[in-house]
Amino acid sequence: MATRTGEKSEGAGRGYPDLQEHLKALDAAGLLVTIDEPINKDTEMHPLVRWQFRGGIPEAERKAFLFTNITDSKGREYDIPVVIGALAANAEIYGIGMGVAVDEIGETWRRAIAGPIAPRIVESAPCQEVVIDGEDLEGPGKGLDALPIPISTPGYDAAPYLTATNCITRDPETGVQNMGTYRAGLKSSRRLGVRMAVRTGGAGGYIHWQKYQALGERMPIAIVVGCPPAVAYLGPQKLRHGVDELDVAGGIVGAPINVVAAKTVDLLVPAEAELVIEGLIDTEYLEPEGPFGESHGHIALEDYNMIMEVSAITRKRHPIIPSIISQVTPSESSVIKRVAYEPLFLAHLRDHLGIDGIVGVSLHEPLTNIRPVIFLQMARTTPRTEVWRALYGAATLQAACGKLVIAVNEDIDPDNGDAVFWAIAYRSNPSLDVEILPHRGRGHGPKTGRGDGEDSTLLIDATQKEDMPPLALPKRQYMEAAKALWERLGLAPLKPESPWFGYSLGDWSDEWDEGALRAAGGDYLENGRRTARRLRKGLKPETSVRKADDDI
Ligand SMILES: Cc1cc2nc3c(=O)[nH]c(=O)nc-3n(C[C@H](O)[C@H](O)[C@H](O)COP(=O)(O)O)c2cc1C
Repeated sequence: MATRTGEKSEGAGRGYPDLQEHLKALDAAGLLVTIDEPINKDTEMHPLVRWQFRGGIPEAERKAFLFTNITDSKGREYDIPVVIGALAANAEIYGIGMGVAVDEIGETWRRAIAGPIAPRIVESAPCQEVVIDGEDLEGPGKGLDALPIPISTPGYDAAPYLTATNCITRDPETGVQNMGTYRAGLKSSRRLGVRMAVRTGGAGGYIHWQKYQALGERMPIAIVVGCPPAVAYLGPQKLRHGVDELDVAGGIVGAPINVVAAKTVDLLVPAEAELVIEGLIDTEYLEPEGPFGESHGHIALEDYNMIMEVSAITRKRHPIIPSIISQVTPSESSVIKRVAYEPLFLAHLRDHLGIDGIVGVSLHEPLTNIRPVIFLQMARTTPRTEVWRALYGAATLQAACGKLVIAVNEDIDPDNGDAVFWAIAYRSNPSLDVEILPHRGRGHGPKTGRGDGEDSTLLIDATQKEDMPPLALPKRQYMEAAKALWERLGLAPLKPESPWFGYSLGDWSDEWDEGALRAAGGDYLENGRRTARRLRKGLKPETSVRKADDDI
């Protein structure tokens, strides 16, 4: 089997924080809540953090939760803390993990993908301070059963699940490693059920598994838990097959990622990870896995999936285990994908397809889970044919993304569903501006038998095609002055919703503008004198002044 070589160095330094340093940074930024009272990992932990996503708390106010005193439903106590939300409870936490401001995340991804940096192999690593193997993995309270892995969806899930994983496998033909975030459910002290998506565009690890199956061999795997955040973010990122995600992680931090040879499998793992579970995945037998609450927001029912036999668990002496809260969106799982995928879509449309009018891409998050519904923000002057190239491009970049793609203009906030319906209602004509395309593969969602195994795509051009009258709200200066007045009067706090002031949509004249200015200045009588001079007869009410005057 091939081993990838990189520059070798002993105990080299590094240019990026590990998970525990990241937690300190979150704490300093007021983004970490530490819970020291006993919390049951099987019934209380995820439901508590779930309230942060279902309790009306704005994204900007979400925090990471560190649990230091963990128990379970059998009354056992654990000395390893668990942290939820530390990778991506919101975009700010993600930015801190990446080491950049929120508005630089997209550009950082673009640079990292264009300029990967190969990892550096080190001889000794914090992730191997403790090595558990052989008989020490065997039996209740040992191996996996000694770890405080929480239950994500109590009442539905069949087991505690590892969710914040970076699963490393190696292509047996090319020797290149893949790293993907896949769930892994505990089945015994040394056995895990692993689920790698088999759909087109699914898991890179599944492609490797098929190759090992053809060779008649089991597949070596290292499930890395608690990577340095910049490395962890590569797990859910959707890169082309054949790209080693560890190289791109180097591109993110601008320095090589330290990696070390795993103890029992021929794989390189991030040296500063909190914990690594090494083992082999059977390529012959599958075992029932699930039910488990999926990121598409429904319970994934029991399926036959891969089985991993653990050969070693290596870890720091004092590790912290991260868990990603997923299931119904918004969630940490949807934030971690949203901030990573949106820049890929924008770069594809703008840089690869050369669509000048594309201004922004927004993957719809609440309940739909960022993949099926995509909004494109287009400049007002974009030609219709370019709007459609953008719609087709967004619908085809990733097999699982873009079942419903809607193009709107820059003045429409895609996060405001009312504004989107407003654009569809007034700026599109369904018989001219909607297309349904057949032959979409099944995406990531609850399984259905409809459509002969195929899904389809709905594209809507809800951009403005002609000049329209202004939005009927007071002009900006009046609304701003009134806001100051509102606040001076001590009325209930405002949360301005876009749109909150009137603006021109193209169809407006200087004459009307001057009339409105006169009216606002108290001179409406002058407007009345002017219209009195324009009396006409023989017209039907509601005849446009512009049309009637043109006809003279
Ligand atoms: C919390 C979380 C859990 C995930 N679980 C799975 C999973 O169980 N199986 C899977 O195929 N993808 C899962 N994904 C999505 C993959 O990580 C994502 O598609 C990624 O691009 C896979 O990397 P790959 O293309 O290298 O396989 C999960 C993502 C997150 C954030």
